[in-house]
Amino acid sequence: MSPFKAYLIDQKDGKTVAGFTRFEEGRLDKGEVTLRIACSSVNYKDALAATGAGRIIRRYPCIGGIDMAGTVVSSSDPRFKEGDPVIATSYDIGVAHHGGYAEYGRVPADWVVPLPKGMSLFDAMALGTAGYTAALGIVRMEENGLKPENGKVIVSGATGGVGSIAIDILARLGYEVVALTGKESQTDYLKGLGAREVMLRASLDLSKIKPLDKALWAGAVDNLGGEVLAWMTSTMQQNGTIASIGLAASMSLNTSVAPFILRGASLLGIDSGYTAMPLRRRVWERLAGDMRPAHLAAMTRSVKLDDLPPVFESFIQGQAHGRVVVDCA
Ligand SMILES: NC(=O)c1ccc[n+]([C@@H]2O[C@H](COP(=O)([O-])OP(=O)(O)OC[C@H]3O[C@@H](n4cnc5c(N)ncnc54)[C@H](OP(=O)(O)O)[C@@H]3O)[C@@H](O)[C@H]2O)c1
Repeated sequence: MSPFKAYLIDQKDGKTVAGFTRFEEGRLDKGEVTLRIACSSVNYKDALAATGAGRIIRRYPCIGGIDMAGTVVSSSDPRFKEGDPVIATSYDIGVAHHGGYAEYGRVPADWVVPLPKGMSLFDAMALGTAGYTAALGIVRMEENGLKPENGKVIVSGATGGVGSIAIDILARLGYEVVALTGKESQTDYLKGLGAREVMLRASLDLSKIKPLDKALWAGAVDNLGGEVLAWMTSTMQQNGTIASIGLAASMSLNTSVAPFILRGASLLGIDSGYTAMPLRRRVWERLAGDMRPAHLAAMTRSVKLDDLPPVFESFIQGQAHGRVVVDCA
């Protein structure tokens, strides 16, 4: 294999530096499966890693991109053979193991998911870690008793990747979805994805969060953390379930035990990184089946690998909406 294009993130004098380079196959990390990457995607975590806005990279230098989808070039593991279409996301990819912003990748076979039937490589990356995590959160909420007849489900960070896909999947499954956003201008977009109602973050008084407030939600998907998650917790209905996914606003959570011990609310931690493989495959299969978002194309745009760097800043500013697929072919 001749040297190929890769977006390498490094650290110099304590500062993050990132840019394109020609990369040799021999420098790829160890793994049984080598793939020709067709597409990757941009997640909030990718933007934090590439810009250095967050301490995400655990091993420098590292090719960025926590997601990759492509075709197997070679595999020393019998579970995969040349030509198989596959997905690899999570684990150490793009943080401590060379990631998806390149023409080729190599990963351990235990990290590889066969592309579900009926799903294209492009759609797999339109979903990417964001879609996988949204679906994982909803699966965990259902396992904890969430059903459409229980009541409304609120989704924060609604216009983001996880938020957009969560709204779409929940609406498809028959839930009454309330989108909580900072972007009034995206009301039509959110309603188009299936949100029954759009609430503006600015309409909430987060300076006075009571231990228990009016019970509003059967379920909540939270991408922000901080005061929004604290408010959601205080407004859960009896036996409501919250999927805590993100920290786009804050790493903190200041709440009380009242919603848990007086309303039986459950706060579910959702970690996409190290889900056991049987559950991971089950979630990807559902993303190709009953959880397939109905508006994936409408929420996704595509950029060439060369045009990737300017995309990161909009994620850091909270201005991105929907999903960005990176065309690596
Ligand atoms: N647990 C896991 O395994 C896992 C996996 C994937 C992602 N995540 C986390 O989930 C979160 C969402 O990821 P994503 O890829 O969907 O990110 P994204 O596309 O950048 O979306 C984040 C959304 O949150 C809102 N937001 C951003 N900055 C904010 C701020 N400072 N204050 C309040 N709201 C803000 C914005 O939506 P509105 O303007 O509509 O409010 C933004 O579009 C991130 O924190 C990410 O790290 C966790």
